[in-house]
Amino acid sequence: AKSHIIADRDFVIAPVNRHIYGSFVEHLGRCVYGGIYEPGHPSADEHGFRRDVLDLTRELGVSIVRYPGGNFVSGYDWEDGVGPKDERPIRLDLAWGSTETNQFGTNEFMDWCRQADVEPMFAVNLGTRGPAEAQNFLEYCCHPGGTHYSDLRKRHGYEQPHDIAFWCLGNEMDGPWQTCAKTAEEYGRIATETAKMMRWTKDGLKLAVCGSSFRDMPTFGAWEYTVLDHCFEHVDYISLHQYFENQEDEVDRFLTVIDDLESFIVEVAGIADAVAAKRRSDKRIMLSLDEWNVWYRARSGEQLRGVGWPQAPHLLEEIYNFEDALVIGGALLTMINHSDRVKAACLAQLVNVIGPIMTETGGPAWRQTIFHPFAQAARYGRGNALRTKVTTDTFAAGKQKAAPLLVSSVIDDPDTGRVTVFALNRSTDAAMDLTVELRGMGDRRIETAQQLHHADLKAINSKDAPDTVAPADHPAVELANGTLSATLKPLSWNMFVTM
Ligand code: AHR
Repeated sequence: AKSHIIADRDFVIAPVNRHIYGSFVEHLGRCVYGGIYEPGHPSADEHGFRRDVLDLTRELGVSIVRYPGGNFVSGYDWEDGVGPKDERPIRLDLAWGSTETNQFGTNEFMDWCRQADVEPMFAVNLGTRGPAEAQNFLEYCCHPGGTHYSDLRKRHGYEQPHDIAFWCLGNEMDGPWQTCAKTAEEYGRIATETAKMMRWTKDGLKLAVCGSSFRDMPTFGAWEYTVLDHCFEHVDYISLHQYFENQEDEVDRFLTVIDDLESFIVEVAGIADAVAAKRRSDKRIMLSLDEWNVWYRARSGEQLRGVGWPQAPHLLEEIYNFEDALVIGGALLTMINHSDRVKAACLAQLVNVIGPIMTETGGPAWRQTIFHPFAQAARYGRGNALRTKVTTDTFAAGKQKAAPLLVSSVIDDPDTGRVTVFALNRSTDAAMDLTVELRGMGDRRIETAQQLHHADLKAINSKDAPDTVAPADHPAVELANGTLSATLKPLSWNMFVTM
């Protein structure tokens, strides 16, 4: 197969927002306890944060991390997680059938963010709680002082207000599994009143309202319209959640979840714009894909909920293989190519729980397969996403009649002078001869070229073989007279960084 890309610096979709390289830490399984936080672990620092996980988080290139849930937040009392640790209550976590010790909470998370060099994205509880508690929480975190809650923070050892700009108004409120789920009318009202109180408390907040939990929710579409019709004036983003599945074990269909994601993005933007049109408003609500990943194996029974109220059980510990990494790479390219509307995204989650990083409690940490395309995109997928012209063959699978074999992005970074091409060859059996015309970009050379490929789609990384699936130098690429030429292996993820 042959594919051709024409890229021109003058044709810009939008700058890639670095918040699309976000992740997520929920009080769920071993994400917090045994993941980012494990006092007594050989690598733990004075806060109890695992240094090996901090190192891998920085290497992953994560920009912003959502916390503390997820389904967990809809039953969470933030007051439980602040103040002296020996006075914090132990609670039942109804979302995950677990026991929550509250030894880790808001202030510990903010300390961890500083160590990890990431921004926080907080979610408030709009399940069991409402606008008043959300406002109290914001006042505790961000008000300089002289009030009950801000002075309480100071007494807890945090003299300076936390710098938290990005807030999610609840989590998956459309889902029957959510603690105190709501109808779109109920949620639209409560989200509006919460947003008003939060904005009155602090200027400059970025507020995200809950969209659908996934595209196939029966209420999808109507939910977005109704919720935004209530809170359009009060919010900046609407969230999308999407987990990709491959129970059928059909790689070609699995790879078209990327195209389904693209439809989801276009549809949500369209609905948001319909709400704007009704108001004759030029305001554009942006999209926050604040939970996304592959997740279909560890999704039932004791892998989904604790039995007997355990502490930090092994939940949602999805082991990722090579084909999952291809899907993660392709999904990132879809977000990059919609940089005009997708302004934030969180790979759910960061560690152990459907995570790119795995740990053994008391033992080592390693990179899952999906770590690699994310880390490459987070590092090199910065600058202006270009609107390219792509010529490639198509294939039919899943819901798609004509999915392009090549999924690609070209990003021009005016700050560094780099132009980076990401290319996913979705052909299951044919190598692809790719040419990329880099028009008007001067004399260039290849700085780095890598491919991610494994002959076995089911190959995984493990504690004992952590680098089974890892990027390698690209064997077949050259750049001459402004045209990059490469041969892409069937089912491969490729990155070409030019200077
Ligand atoms: O990320 C795991 C769970 O998936 C989250 O808690 C929830 O929001 C979603 O259903």
